[in-house]
Amino acid sequence: AFNLKNRHFLTLRDFSPREIGFLLKLSSDLKTAKYAGTEVPKLEGKDIALIFEKNSTRTRVGFEVAAFDQGARVTYLGPTGTHIGHKESVKDTARVLGRVYDAIEYRGFGQAVVEELAQYAGVPVYNGLTNEFHPTQILADFLTMQEHVEKPLRDVAYVFIGDAANNMGDSLLIGGAKMGMDVRLCAPKACWPNQAVQEEARALAAETGARITITDDVDTAVAGVDFVYTDVWVSMGEPKEKWAERIKLLMPYQVNAALMAKTGNPRARFMHCLPAFHNTETVVGKEIQETYGIDAMEVTEEVFESPASIVFDQAENRMHTIKAVLVATLGG
Ligand code: CP
Ligand code: NVA
Repeated sequence: AFNLKNRHFLTLRDFSPREIGFLLKLSSDLKTAKYAGTEVPKLEGKDIALIFEKNSTRTRVGFEVAAFDQGARVTYLGPTGTHIGHKESVKDTARVLGRVYDAIEYRGFGQAVVEELAQYAGVPVYNGLTNEFHPTQILADFLTMQEHVEKPLRDVAYVFIGDAANNMGDSLLIGGAKMGMDVRLCAPKACWPNQAVQEEARALAAETGARITITDDVDTAVAGVDFVYTDVWVSMGEPKEKWAERIKLLMPYQVNAALMAKTGNPRARFMHCLPAFHNTETVVGKEIQETYGIDAMEVTEEVFESPASIVFDQAENRMHTIKAVLVATLGG
């Protein structure tokens, strides 16, 4: 009933709620088949180019293992080593890769770049994260939510708290509005998504029955939610100097035990797309601690490591949901 063959996957706004539902069902079926050892490869002989102008762990391994499981081959094109964006335009790159590959994944900066790639490639193009959107992440998040509550997505309430002006804020707002959910963004006004995205979400909500709340008030935002979601306060591609300003603005929005308790829901789960800054073990963590004297940023170690945390379910589900996108758009 759903034919997504040859479609691009650039933002969730391009897909109907039923198509998104179909991709989630396919993800869950593919996950079950992999666990049971009954997966049937549908992508034999396909070649997929993976362009990463920014670093990645989950998205890269998600695309690679999904492709391998399904019999496809991939080429990883990292931030250096190709002509992309330096010596050759996006338009020319698109036409070259489109002659050689059956599909192209792109992670990079402006959404306009992935759109241009899609315009000229002649093969499906997948957004593996831009400054504006991270649609494959949202599929994984919705699958994970479904696995943790016994109710349909439209009855699920989640809050995205912290820097809501980034790709995750935009994507969770649009995605939840599409699926008719209770979507809350909680951040100081300076960290809200831009006006156009807010209006788009409200227009979608009018069609789907989604409830949209965008507020700087923590107590109202978190009351009764099923999921508390956060992300880093300074995203890839943003200057380091942003830390000082964001720490000042966002410390009251840190996900800690007190904030989780404010949900009033003892079964509320914690979500994060990762990578997360929850202790000072990493190079970046140490630097932040030395400069600002802080041991945890958007989420405390306590919440991150608590039984409420489902972040590694999300990480695993990146692979299963990316596989569904590949199978649906490229499969025979
Ligand atoms: N969540 C996510 O996209 O992770 P990576 O940056 O590791 O791909
Ligand atoms: N907002 C983060 C998401 C990482 C998956 C970033 O863009 O760096």
